[in-house]
Amino acid sequence: MPPSAPPPRRPPAAPPTPAAAAPASAPERPELLATLLAQKAVTPEQAERARRAARLGNVSVEHALLQGGLATEVQIAQAVAAHAGLPFARLNPLDLDLDVVTGALSGPFARRHGIVAISKANGVLTVAVHDPWAPFPADEIKQKTGLELRRVVATRSDIEAVNKGFYDLKTSLTTAQKQLESSRVSNVDLGNQEFLSASTDELDPAAAPVVRALDHMLTYAFEQRASDIHFEPKRELTLVRLRIDGVLHDVHVIPKIVYQALVSRIKLLSGCNIAEKRRPQDGRIKREQGGREVELRVSTMPTAFGEKAVLRIFDPDILLKGVDELGLSPRDLPRFYEFIARTDGILLVTGPTGSGKTTTLYSILKYLSRPEVNIVTIEDPIEMVHEDFNQVAVRPQIDVTFANALRTVLRQDPDVIMVGEIRDAETAEHAVQAALTGHLVFSTLHTNDAPSSVNRLLDLGVPHFLITSTLIGVLAQRLMRVNCAHCSEQHAPTREEAAELALPEDAMTGVLFRAGRGCLECRQTGYSGRDGIYEVMAMTERLRQLVTDRAGANEIHKAARAEGLRTLREAGVEKVFRGTTTVAELVRVTGRAH
Ligand SMILES: Nc1ncnc2c1ncn2[C@@H]1O[C@H](COP(=O)(O)OP(=O)(O)OP(=O)(O)O)[C@@H](O)[C@H]1O
Ligand SMILES: [Mg+2]
Ligand SMILES: [Zn+2]
Repeated sequence: MPPSAPPPRRPPAAPPTPAAAAPASAPERPELLATLLAQKAVTPEQAERARRAARLGNVSVEHALLQGGLATEVQIAQAVAAHAGLPFARLNPLDLDLDVVTGALSGPFARRHGIVAISKANGVLTVAVHDPWAPFPADEIKQKTGLELRRVVATRSDIEAVNKGFYDLKTSLTTAQKQLESSRVSNVDLGNQEFLSASTDELDPAAAPVVRALDHMLTYAFEQRASDIHFEPKRELTLVRLRIDGVLHDVHVIPKIVYQALVSRIKLLSGCNIAEKRRPQDGRIKREQGGREVELRVSTMPTAFGEKAVLRIFDPDILLKGVDELGLSPRDLPRFYEFIARTDGILLVTGPTGSGKTTTLYSILKYLSRPEVNIVTIEDPIEMVHEDFNQVAVRPQIDVTFANALRTVLRQDPDVIMVGEIRDAETAEHAVQAALTGHLVFSTLHTNDAPSSVNRLLDLGVPHFLITSTLIGVLAQRLMRVNCAHCSEQHAPTREEAAELALPEDAMTGVLFRAGRGCLECRQTGYSGRDGIYEVMAMTERLRQLVTDRAGANEIHKAARAEGLRTLREAGVEKVFRGTTTVAELVRVTGRAH
């Protein structure tokens, strides 16, 4: 007799599966798709496609959406947040406090759980998660920090970026601090070139953290599109600040002892004399950043609490704008092209420091660059190395000045010459001579508006007849911040705005301006990036006559106006009407109307 079959065993009760424990075959999360649909982030067809792709590929809906390019990470994270009933947050590293992030959760812990601590206030720690349904180690965190917890949803990339950069920087800084404090030798060795050699591999282990810390700071500055990095030594600490779109932001605070090693490293890399600490020095660092060669211009200066270092970033991608991208209005652009189509004469760009003059000149040179054209630049210093130009750096120490470099250059048969700046009579004279002898010359002058350049040239001793026979035109320029693409909204002009623009009522009816509300993308400023505004003055027959007649800047200005010159302010107003920027920014850059 066959043994009786054992009674069928009941299948074990399915263990409760927390959503997050779901393996690769992640839940379909129909609610997520519903939310994305409701937010109009995806069309019904796209939702259906994602659903099918997820099922076929045995991947999560999120993954399918991203893979298929059906929704962005931000859209998904926003939908996830809405669906989980949590706030959504973009993580802006600039707003995060290094010590809060790295102090609350350990690096490995944060990475393991895909979370990051973003702020601490009133006994509450805010933690960003990318998957609100994943198990959240709330008890562990509470126990360790003694804080209440609040969760927000952020994208996985944002969280990973912070988890990577911040912990590495913190580790580098603290390791450097510990090592520097414990070893007396280090203070002596800071002046030793080998100690801080360029490669991390063959490095004295004591230097590696400093090297890494600087590396992180530089990478970070590039990611934030900073134009300058300031290291400002205070009594106890050194403040690190970034200039972004012309405005300074505090980003890090580093211990003094680490800064001393850091500034030695900066000086070493930039070819400065490490031992010299009492004199200002200049240097440059070449660096590979995201596959591009980027240059940092370093300047150090002794201050009461140590050497202040400023690193200016020259990113060829930003420096080399196309002529069409500079911000010239459609009305001025054709005139601008006429100027640079000439084969001889002189074109001047004017504006205060940082108004974009060099950028404009480089853009022109790039536009003119052809194999049969010999382009020579004389600069102080060379801001961006371009292989199509022959560039000479001014170095007064060895008697290479603008003036005598220009003299030498003229013997080398140039077609186009860029003189970084005309600031003395001798340079002015040579520049004008060059223009007179069949060369196209570009240079900059420090004047406020285009018409006063004529006076400036006269002050520099250029005679009237040489101005009239060589000057093609003058551009005055400024940079205005541009409304953030992520948070700018339309609004009817306010009464204050209308008053500032001093425009008649009917010119405003139906007009809508734009302004940024402020968001994480723009660091709550409402602006992101900058754009040039230009005053384009062509030296016409009438203007030449006025110069010959010894007319003053006022008269020249009036005549130029009559011939169609638009002021900087008018160029700015046009940008306000186009919704590119705001009245407030117009006022900041060009001053009040009256
Ligand atoms: N048209 C533009 N649009 C956006 N950003 C610009 C533009 N022109 C220049 N910039 C940025 O503004 C900063 C200053 O520009 P630039 O060095 O050309 O000014 P500058 O007038 O030559 O200054 P300086 O007087 O110090 O020589 C740079 O970071 C540059 O990338
Ligand atoms: Mg310049
Ligand atoms: Zn914004």
